[in-house]
Amino acid sequence: MTQVHVPVSVPYDVEIGPGLLSGLGDKVNALCPKASRFLVVTDDTVGPLWAQKALDSLAAAGLAAAVYTLPHGEASKTAASLIDILNFAAAEHLTRSDAFLALGGGMVGDLTGLAAATYMRGVAYIQIPTTLLAAVDSSVGGKTAVDLPAGKNLMGAFWQPRHVLCDTDTLSTLPDADFTSGCAEVIKTAVLFDEELFEELSRDGKAFDRESLIARCVAWKRDIVAEDERDTGRRALLNLGHTLGHAVEAESGFALSHGQCVAIGMATVCRAAAKGGLCVSDVPEKVDAVLEKFGLPIRTDIPLDRLMERMLSDKKRAGATVSVIVPEAIGRCAIRPMDRAALQDLMKAGL
Ligand code: GLY
Repeated sequence: MTQVHVPVSVPYDVEIGPGLLSGLGDKVNALCPKASRFLVVTDDTVGPLWAQKALDSLAAAGLAAAVYTLPHGEASKTAASLIDILNFAAAEHLTRSDAFLALGGGMVGDLTGLAAATYMRGVAYIQIPTTLLAAVDSSVGGKTAVDLPAGKNLMGAFWQPRHVLCDTDTLSTLPDADFTSGCAEVIKTAVLFDEELFEELSRDGKAFDRESLIARCVAWKRDIVAEDERDTGRRALLNLGHTLGHAVEAESGFALSHGQCVAIGMATVCRAAAKGGLCVSDVPEKVDAVLEKFGLPIRTDIPLDRLMERMLSDKKRAGATVSVIVPEAIGRCAIRPMDRAALQDLMKAGL
């Protein structure tokens, strides 16, 4: 087992390794000694595979739990689902000293986190990520949210988990496409911070040791979150590929996965940066090659005018500018605020 400490306002640990779900009961007993009842939130893909193991471990530690199961997929990440979870928690008589457990991928984690942030003005929650994407990114850092019709993650709060328990066995039931989607966030981490990791991914593809790779990505994210917990500065770097990626995701009607869209966003911004003389000239070639090695797309044929409207309504906008993360070299990126014209020129160069 590997442990990464996250020293934020309310510090917590991320534990990564096989078989950790069996120790869930003892872990929550230690972390939430006053809790007498737990709400496990999951979805209809992960629940049938892993909820019983979580419940058995809680029961063995003498803990009672109720389970709330959502339909899987981004369509469940709504304000209506949030209210349903809160009503369910109230009907199950959870109190302020009880806790929520988010068993699933990014959708379940973001939604459960927001439910925990708002139930009785805030209860503890534990992230139990079961996808690679959630393990390396969304389960760490306390960003919680649901989507609004106007865009992704527009309703949310910063609410740090009490703990993150990443049982790498759960990744074994992850469909190939979902694993590949998570790999886009791994590649993003390498392009942002870690040239050595980038070389390893370029050489070995998906043949990596999951525990150490997740720990390495979490450690990079920990450093950024510890420095900028409320996302007012350098944390924006984690949005590499996301400005265009979120636009492609919405325009595709969520037919493309988050990871596929981030891959397109990352490849596009690298091509644009090289053409504009902002980054080392071989970056696009290297990034395209690693994304293709992982089976991720590098282009979209969605017209730029449709993507522009989406990018300009992105929540990364501040006033008239959007912060775009621009690679300078592998392992080094910069935050560049851009107005509409600059953003349009950049994207035109990359698409
Ligand atoms: N997923 C981006 C962040 O946590 O800031």
